[in-house]
This record gives sequence, C-alpha cells and structure tokens, in this order.
Amino acid sequence: MEIKCDRLRINYGDTVVIDDFNTGFPSREINVIIGNSGSGKSTLLRTVAALNDPTSGTIYYDNQPHHKLSTRVIRSKIGMIFQKPTLFEGTVYENLRFGLEQQNRRVDDQEIESILRQVGIPTSYLSKKGNELSVGEQQRICIVRSLLPSPDLFLLDEPTSALDPHNSNKVLRLIKSVKTDFDKTIIMVSHDTRESLSIADNVFLLSQGKIIFSGDKEELERAQQVRGSHLSKFMRGDYE
Ligand SMILES: Nc1ncnc2c1ncn2[C@@H]1O[C@H](COP(=O)(O)OP(=O)(O)OP(=O)(O)O)[C@@H](O)[C@H]1O
Ligand SMILES: [Mg+2]
Repeated sequence: MEIKCDRLRINYGDTVVIDDFNTGFPSREINVIIGNSGSGKSTLLRTVAALNDPTSGTIYYDNQPHHKLSTRVIRSKIGMIFQKPTLFEGTVYENLRFGLEQQNRRVDDQEIESILRQVGIPTSYLSKKGNELSVGEQQRICIVRSLLPSPDLFLLDEPTSALDPHNSNKVLRLIKSVKTDFDKTIIMVSHDTRESLSIADNVFLLSQGKIIFSGDKEELERAQQVRGSHLSKFMRGDYE
C-alpha cells in the first residue's frame, strides 16, 4: 500500500511536532525513517496508523484520503509493531489467534504452522507461554501475529532497540522477509542508522518534524558527499 502525506501537520496543544510534511512512502518497499529522539517519529507512525488524528493535511492510503476511510478500515490494513514486544498472557497460539479473532479473519491452524515454518520459528513454540521466550523471539511472534490477518502495511516503531545484536539481526531478517515473501509495504522508524540502513530501500531523514532528505541508499551516499558535514553529522547521530 502506498502512503502519501500532503501538508500534514500534527500538533500536541500548541507544540508543532510534524510540520508541513509532504512525503510519499512507496508500496512494497522498506521505507526507513531516521531521526533523533523527539523528532516526531512515533507521532507520525501513530497518525498513519489512525491512532492519532492529524491536526491538518491529508494522509492518502493508496490514493484514498484518510477522511474518506473509517478508522476501523484503516486499522484493518495496518500491522503495528512497537519497541517492546506486546504479547499478553497466554500461549503463543492464543496470541496468534487473538489478532485474527479481533478482525474476524478465518485462518486454519495449518496456515499458522506454515507461516511459522516460513519465518523460521519452530511450531513447538505454539504451546509456549510468552514469558518463556526471549525478547527477540517475542518480537518475532508479534510480527507473525500482525502478519496473520494479512494487512497491507507494516508500521514498525524501533522494533529492534530492545534487542541484542543477534536477536536484532533475526528480527531484521524477518522484516525483510515480510516485504519480499509476503509482499508488504514497510515503514520503520529507527535511530540506529547502520542497522536500519542494512534493510532499507528508501531512507527518510526526519529533523524537528520535517524531512531533510529522502531517497535510496545511493542517493543518500551522494547527498552526504555533496552536502558534506550536515548530513554526515546527522548520519553519525550527532544532530539537533
Ligand atoms: N501525548 C503527547 N502529548 C504531548 N506531547 C507529546 C505527546 N507525545 C509526544 N509528545 C511530544 O512530541 C514530540 C515528538 O515525540 P515522539 O514520541 O513522536 O518522538 P520520537 O521521534 O518518536 O522520539 P523517540 O526516538 O524518543 O521515541 C516530543 O517533543 C514529545 O515530547
Ligand atoms: Mg518514538
């Protein structure tokens, strides 16, 4: 699903968090937004997920403006993953079934097992409790739980920042497979530049609610050379 933001503005009270934001996120690609703490990354994702309302401007979901779609319809097209895994008490199987029941989707157990195998999670995990799994495994189950109702778009809010490098790599590989094997669109926010660039198709640099760069990795490379210290500093995490 293609997402376009047109003159999007998001305020909290008098504070402008996202300002005159005009950016498109191409369909079926991994779009990575990099920005420092407080730059508005989570606010933007939550608004695209219809968890917040924009103050003004329009978000287009495959060319349909947000005000023409119900919140329920928008949410049914989206899988959202947060920094920390959000499994509730109960078994992995119960967690996976929960998302489907919420959306009245019928998926049989064989399909659940087949998706688990496809993403490299043993089916024996179905009977485990969430707290018997590592945080990285829990995060992968959360991604599978979002995948099962078959949303078009995945919004991931720093999905690897609570993980060690080994688990982080596994989650990144799964995110890549969500795009390539399941044909989904991904918007992921991160402040780990190196890690998120490893899987990015398109990169968006967000500073104080505005996009200061967008392009693919080669364009980013070239822009860093041309624009010199400003973007290089940003990419090192040394930015305002
Ligand atoms: N519910 C809220 N009410 C008021 N202000 C908020 C609220 N949520 C966030 N903000 C403010 O909006 C700004 C952007 O916050 P946001 O959480 O979107 O940043 P972020 O880029 O996700 O940061 P981080 O990398 O730390 O997660 C911050 O200044 C924050 O204090
Ligand atoms: Mg955030």
